[in-house]
Amino acid sequence: MRKKILVTHTLPGERIHALSELADVNVWLGPGLMPADSLREELAGCHGLVCLLTDQVSRELIEASPDLTFVSSMSVGVDHVDVSALNARGIPLGHTPGVLVETTADTAFALLLAAARRISEADCFVRQGAWRRENRWSPDFFTGKDVSGATLGVLGLGAIGQAVARRAAAFGMRVLAWNRSPREVPGVTAVSLEELLAESDFLSVHLALTDETRGLLGAGRIAAMKPGAVLVNTARGGIVDEHALAEALGQGQLYAAGIDVFEEEPVPADNPLLALPNVVLAPHIGSATAATRARMADMAANNAIAALNGEAMPHCFNPEVYRDRG
Ligand code: DGY
Repeated sequence: MRKKILVTHTLPGERIHALSELADVNVWLGPGLMPADSLREELAGCHGLVCLLTDQVSRELIEASPDLTFVSSMSVGVDHVDVSALNARGIPLGHTPGVLVETTADTAFALLLAAARRISEADCFVRQGAWRRENRWSPDFFTGKDVSGATLGVLGLGAIGQAVARRAAAFGMRVLAWNRSPREVPGVTAVSLEELLAESDFLSVHLALTDETRGLLGAGRIAAMKPGAVLVNTARGGIVDEHALAEALGQGQLYAAGIDVFEEEPVPADNPLLALPNVVLAPHIGSATAATRARMADMAANNAIAALNGEAMPHCFNPEVYRDRG
C-alpha cells in the first residue's frame, strides 16, 4: 500500500517533487496557512507530515495520528513541535539547520543598522511628505547611534550568533557573547550574562526557544541592560518579555529595537511594540531569501524522502529515536 504524506504548504525547491514518486502526497493549497482543525483532519491516516514553523504539532495532534511515522519541518527551530511526544512514539523529526545561517545573520544585522540609524522612521518621514511639508534639516535631524566602534553582545553563540559576530567585527565592533555552554570563538569575548547585559550597546538574540530560554529576557534582565542599548531579536519571540521591552523603549531606557519574531505570530494589533517609533518591525523573515527558502525546502524534502525509504533522516533533530530502535 502506498504511504500517505501531508504537506501543509506548497514548497519551493526541486526535491519536493521526488516525494510523489514514493507516496501519495496531499498538499494544502490554502488560502493562507493550514488551520489547526484541517491539519488534524487531513493528517488522519498519514504516515508522514511535512510542515512549516507555523503548524503547531502538539502532543494532542501526535496522539490523534496513530499512523504517523515521521515529521519533517521546513525550519531550523522546532519549538512548534512537541518533541517529547514524538520521542515517546519513536518518531524522527527532520529540520533544516545550517542553510539559513548567513541569511538570518544578514537580517539581524539589517535590523541592528536600521534600528541604530532610524531607517524606518526616516522612510516614513520622507514617504508621508513630512520632509517637504516641514522643509526641515538641522544638525540633529534624524540623528541615530553609531554602530562602528560600539559593543555588540551576542546572546547565544551558535552558528547564527557566530555569523553575526563576523559581521560585527567587519564593522569595527567589540564583540561579547554569552552561551549556555561556554564556547571559544576567535574575536569574541565570552562573558557572563550579567556582563553581557551591562556592557552591550547592541544585544542580538540567537537562542533556540526552549523551556530554559522562554522569558529569559524578562523585565529584570531588560532593566539590567546598558542604558541606551538596542535590542535585536531574530530568534524567537517567547525569549523576550515584549511588554517589559515596550516599557523600556517607551521610557527611553533602551534606545531602539529591531524585532523579527513575536510571542504571538501574526503579531496582534494591540502588541505595544507596534505603537513605538523606535522599533523596526519585520514579520519573521530572518531566512527569507528565495535561495535560502529553496534550500530549506530541499532539506525538508530530503528528510522526508529518507524517512519514506526507511533510512535515517540526514538532518534529524532527535536522532536518539534511531538509537532507541536498536
Ligand atoms: C527557522 O527556520 O526556525 C527560522 O525561524 C525561519 O526563519
